[in-house]
Formats: sequence, structure tokens, C-alpha cells
Amino acid sequence: MGRLPNSPLPVVVLISGSGSNLQALIDRATEINITIRAVISNKADAYGLARAQEAGIATAVVDHRQFPDRAAFDQALAAEVDRHQPELVVLAGFMRILTEDFVIHYLGRMLNIHPSLLPDFQGLNTHQRVLDTGADQHGASVHFVTPELDGGPVVIRGEVPVLADDDADTLASRVQEQEHIIYPQAVAWFASGRLRLNNGIATLDGQQIPQAKARHT
Ligand code: GAR
Repeated sequence: MGRLPNSPLPVVVLISGSGSNLQALIDRATEINITIRAVISNKADAYGLARAQEAGIATAVVDHRQFPDRAAFDQALAAEVDRHQPELVVLAGFMRILTEDFVIHYLGRMLNIHPSLLPDFQGLNTHQRVLDTGADQHGASVHFVTPELDGGPVVIRGEVPVLADDDADTLASRVQEQEHIIYPQAVAWFASGRLRLNNGIATLDGQQIPQAKARHT
């Protein structure tokens, strides 16, 4: 069942927390031609749920603590996501590791934002790790989600300088300003059909998106 030409792309956003990236998508939804059908959180107190309700978007909570294991949680989560029939799933500060089955189910139609210049600094506590390493550049990356954690093909990165007096909080807020630019950009590309994942390769307008080499771990 395809969409009518130029109709907004149906999206489901998964969150665990503040939802500032969700807000950036809500604010630009019309411009980038998406409709957010639902926001789903694994945490009932995630502030992003209030942002969604404020915007008139359906919300749901699938609490991971109520399931015996990751597989059972992911099955319930996928059932809730699929109820809304999204063409794109957007992970926006969703802080759960997903099973391979879940990831494969949404392969090529699920994006994540990660607070580092991938492939550098996969995993958690990226801002402090960047400071500890003494790197002079940091940023955020949007990537297609593949079974390798934080390892899928990168779509776009936003860079910021690391300043001498930065702590993890000042650095995080500078990175988040970039996140709020690059995530709507990546989603806009996907919505217009320009961005795709083909055989594990991210392409924009049919051209492979260049992938940076790792400089830090
Ligand atoms: C963002 O900085 C995002 O990059 C990060 O969580 C934050 C969510 O902020 N994601 C990860 O660390 C994923 N491993 P938000 O809830 O205000 O959008």
C-alpha cells in the first residue's frame, strides 16, 4: 500500500528522555514533509511524551521492566510501532539496545542519532570520553540502524569544536544544537526518497555517502 505522491511520510519516533530531537522534528514536520503518527517511550516519565501530547501526537509507553527479556520487550515494541504503519522509525534518544530481530525488521527504514562523530566513540558517555581523550573535535551523527551497535552506515555528521574550558555538559549542549539541525535534514532526505540503504550502503541521490575512518575508539 503506497503513499500518494508528495504525501507526508508516516513516522514513529522512539524516545527515552527529554525529547529535544523529537521537538526539532515536530517543529519542522510540515517543512520536511513527515507526519509523526506516534511517539513511543520505554519510560513513562520521559519528558518527550509531554512534548508529543502538546503537539497532538499519539503516545504510548512500552516499559522494558515489564518483560522477562529483551526479545519479549522488542516484540511488544515492534507490535506497538507497527500498529501505526510507519515508513520510517526514528530513534531519538532511545536508550535500549535492540535485538537483531527488531533491527532486521526495520532495516533500511530506521535511523538513529548518536552523540559522537561516528565511527569514533560508539557507546555511552561520549562527551566525557572525548574530553578525556583530548580530542579537539566532537559532534553527532545520524546513521541507519544495523545489528552492529552504533555501527550502521552514517548519513550525516555535525561537527563542533571542543573548547579548553568545556565540561561534559557544555559540550553536550553544543553537540545537541547540531543534532537538532542534522536529524531533521536526514529525515527530510529520507522522506523525499533521496536517502536510501541499498545492500548495506547508504546512498543520497544514488551516490554512496562517504564514510569516515575511525580516529578514536
Ligand atoms: C541525544 O543527545 C542523542 O544523541 C543521545 O541521547 C540524547 C537524547 O536527547 N542518544 C544516544 O546516546 C544514543 N545512544 P533528547 O531526548 O533531548 O533528544
